[in-house]
Parts: sequence; C-alpha cells; structure tokens
Amino acid sequence: MDRVIIFDTTLRDGEQSAGAALNIDEKLEIARQLERLKVDVIEAGFPISSPGDLEAVRRIAKEVRGPTICALAHANKEAVDAAWQAIKDAQHPCIHVFLSSSEIHMAHQLKKSREQVLEAALNMVARAKGYLEDIEFSPMDATRTDPAFLYQIIEATIAAGATTVNIPDTVGYTIPREFCALIEGIFKNVPNINKAVVSVHCHNDLGLAVANSLAVLDYGVRQIECTVNGIGERAGNASLEEIVMALRTRKDLFKYTTDIDTLQIHKTSRLVSDLTGMSVQPNKAIVGANAFRHESGIHQDGILKERATYEIMDPRDIGLTGTTLTLGKLSGRHAFKARLEVLGYTLSDEEFARAFTAFKELADKKKEISDRDIEALIAEEMRTFSETYHLDHVQVSCGDHLVPTASVRLIGPGGQLLADAALGTGPVDAVYKAINRLVSVPNNLTEFSVKSVTAGIDAMGEVTIRIESGGRTYTGRGAATDIIVASAKAYMNALNRLLSAMQKA
Ligand code: KIV
Ligand code: ZN
Repeated sequence: MDRVIIFDTTLRDGEQSAGAALNIDEKLEIARQLERLKVDVIEAGFPISSPGDLEAVRRIAKEVRGPTICALAHANKEAVDAAWQAIKDAQHPCIHVFLSSSEIHMAHQLKKSREQVLEAALNMVARAKGYLEDIEFSPMDATRTDPAFLYQIIEATIAAGATTVNIPDTVGYTIPREFCALIEGIFKNVPNINKAVVSVHCHNDLGLAVANSLAVLDYGVRQIECTVNGIGERAGNASLEEIVMALRTRKDLFKYTTDIDTLQIHKTSRLVSDLTGMSVQPNKAIVGANAFRHESGIHQDGILKERATYEIMDPRDIGLTGTTLTLGKLSGRHAFKARLEVLGYTLSDEEFARAFTAFKELADKKKEISDRDIEALIAEEMRTFSETYHLDHVQVSCGDHLVPTASVRLIGPGGQLLADAALGTGPVDAVYKAINRLVSVPNNLTEFSVKSVTAGIDAMGEVTIRIESGGRTYTGRGAATDIIVASAKAYMNALNRLLSAMQKA
C-alpha cells in the first residue's frame, strides 16, 4: 500500500481563519500535539509576516522533533531568508515557496507577466535550495491557471530544486472530475515530474476540499495538505480527520495508508478548537459532538443489537473513551491525575497544581464532574496561562429594578492589581465596560454566544465571543458555572489575544 504524506497547515493556513490568531505558547502547544498525532509535516507559519510569527516558527523548529517543520515564504528574497532563519534549527527543515500563476492573479494582484513570474519562482526556489534540500513550490491558484503555463512552471521549479510541487485549489473552485484531469495532465506533460512528490492543497468554498483531495490520489498525488477541524481561510481547508478516517474506513477502496495515530484525533480537535476559539459544528464529520450520537429510536435499537448497524467507525478509534465515569468533591489528586491521563493530557507540575485547584473549586459547585467538564476546565487553564491581564474577581448586581452594576479586579502586567466599576444596560455590558476602563483598547463586540458544556442545572456555561479592532477579529472563550463569570473570562481571553497581536505587530 502507498503511504500518503499528511502535511498539516493548521498553524499557518488554519491560523489565517478570521479570529483564530494564536500566541507563541499556544502555537507550540498545538505543534506538540501534532507531533503526538504523528503528522509528517507541520507548516508552522509564515515568518516574514510578523516578528511574532518568525519567533513562533523558530521555537517550534527548535523544540518539536519528529515531523518536518516547514515555513512559508512568498517568492521574494526577504521572505525566503526569514523562512530559513526560522527553521534552520529543525531536525527536518523545509521551505515552502509560493507564487500565483493564474492570469487573474498575475494581472490584477502581482501585475507581472508570465516571464516575470517564472523567473521569480525559479530564482526563489534556487535561493531556498542554497540553504537546504527540502523545498516545496506552490503555483498559487493552480486550478485557475492555464495548464500549459502550469506545466512549464512546475517543470522549471523542479529543475531548480523543488522536491515537492503542491497544486493549490486556492479559491475552492474545482470539482473532483476536473481536478483529476488536471493532475493527470501534469503527470503526462511535465517530463521531470517523477523527481518530486506531488501534493494538493484544497480549500472548501464549495464544500469539496476533502472530496477533491481524496479523488486525486489515484492519479499519483502522495501528499495532502490539510488542517485540524478543517479551519482555514474563508470556508477553510480540507479537514485532516476526515481525510485520515476516510482512508482508514474505506481501505477496501483506497489502497493508501497514513502514519497518523488516530487515537489522538479527538484530543487534537478539542485543543485546536479551544485555543483558536473556533467551535466545531455539532454535525461535523468525525469530531462534531453529534458524530457518534444516535437520536432516533430505530437507530438506538440497532446500535444496541450490533454497533455496526449504524456506525461505520468505532468512536474509540479517534480517542473517544466512551466511559461515563465521573469525579466529584471527594476525588483526590490521584483520581484526577489518572483521569487526565486517560483523557490524554500531560501537564507539567505547575499546570497540574493549577488544574487541581480549579477542579476542587468546580467540585464545590458541581456534584458530578464529567470528562467534558474536565476538558473545559483544562482548556480554561491553558487559556489563562500566558495572559497579559488576568481576571481576578468579578461581581455583579442586577435585576428588573436595578441598574446593572459590575466591579472587576484584574491582575495586570508585573502582578499589578487594578480595580474599577461600571454601570451597563445588562450585567455582561456592565462587566465589559468595567474591564474597558482598566484595559483601554478600543474594540467592538460583534458576536456573543453561550452554551452549556454538559446537561443539568449545575452545568458549566461556555461563552464564545468575537471582538473587532483595527479591521481584525479576535475570538475569546471562557467557561465557568456562572455565565457572567464565563462572559468576563471570554472577554479577557479575546482582549489578551488582541494585546498579543498588537505586541507581535
Ligand atoms: O491556498 C493557497 O493557495 C495557499 C498557498 C500558500 C499554498 O495557502
Ligand atoms: Zn491555502
């Protein structure tokens, strides 16, 4: 069976999703989990885009062993040099050079002729090759490029040293039949094509990213670029978990394997969703909350008699434990640690101490603590680990005959205690106004949603918000048994992301 290289671009294209900005520690945390998931390549970022991104890629290259660490560069000298600076300490470094090749991009965006594009692509692949062996080249918007020019640029960049050529469906425009014909054309018309791995990178604007990526395997493609939960520009990228589980579940039809440890899929999905703030829709294939839930009586009856009647995959294969074990007030450190291990968390001593304190506080408010509660609690701890401002205290008075009033106390940079109060149209408004008086960063709240983590009146509430500042969106999440506290935490999370982006810039 042929092996398919899984190239994960969650930290690059995924992070380009509106509102998904990650700080350096969060990127590192996801990269470590991608290493456990056993992806072949981690595209860690776009170093020329900001000093913060360069630093994040540099740390991932230094600290994550196993997968190839790839940095993106557009076809210009500074970008290629920045990419090399960022990844030179990696065990297996790779530079990914890209340049648009479609008429529409060349004429309107680049304002360059075919000859100029060809020359820039060759020169920059050759420049990268001067630094290292493993070079990927992408003719951006390949699916809307004149095939004759596409063959020419692919042949020339392979000759200049590209070891992988990636065919991006940048705007998610193609359909499986057309994409297969394009790949077939490349294999027929590019004489040196066998000197490189052929890769694809599909966007999901028409909901076809996974179908397009899988269809071309039979035509010689051996690398798929994808993201966890399918996050990415606009409608996102091909979803890693869908690609991997389709290959595994239908191995009778697909004769291809991957090295992915599928037991890590659920945990990776949760981590990416928690850190980016991008919720997974309940009906999302493989990792949505309903993906293995059976509601109708007929289905439940079938499942009880024989699981395979209505389940084509075993949820345990993606790391869902399926256990209903709950912890409570009397559970000690040992039980909590054991449960964390079952759920796949490895925390440092400091992180464990903080998580255990939070667990005990939660157990005082909530009788039974389920796995989902523990996941929400750990996510909350991770969110607050590297924040500039930390919510220390929040108090609200409100009701139908009161003007909602909030007082908040924050711990600011250097441990400084900051307190203030404000009135609002409602309790959340009052809290946000009080916080704004302390952290004066202009922004607009554009989305606010609250849902319960588990069932029951004592369930934890999870708040997701989006704020906009300077034309960019920042997502924030917070969880607590009190939804006003969860709202305050979500706002602090979004503000901390905004501040970290300002520092990066
Ligand atoms: O979608 C795209 O074309 C890209 C390239 C940088 C490969 O993300
Ligand atoms: Zn892309």
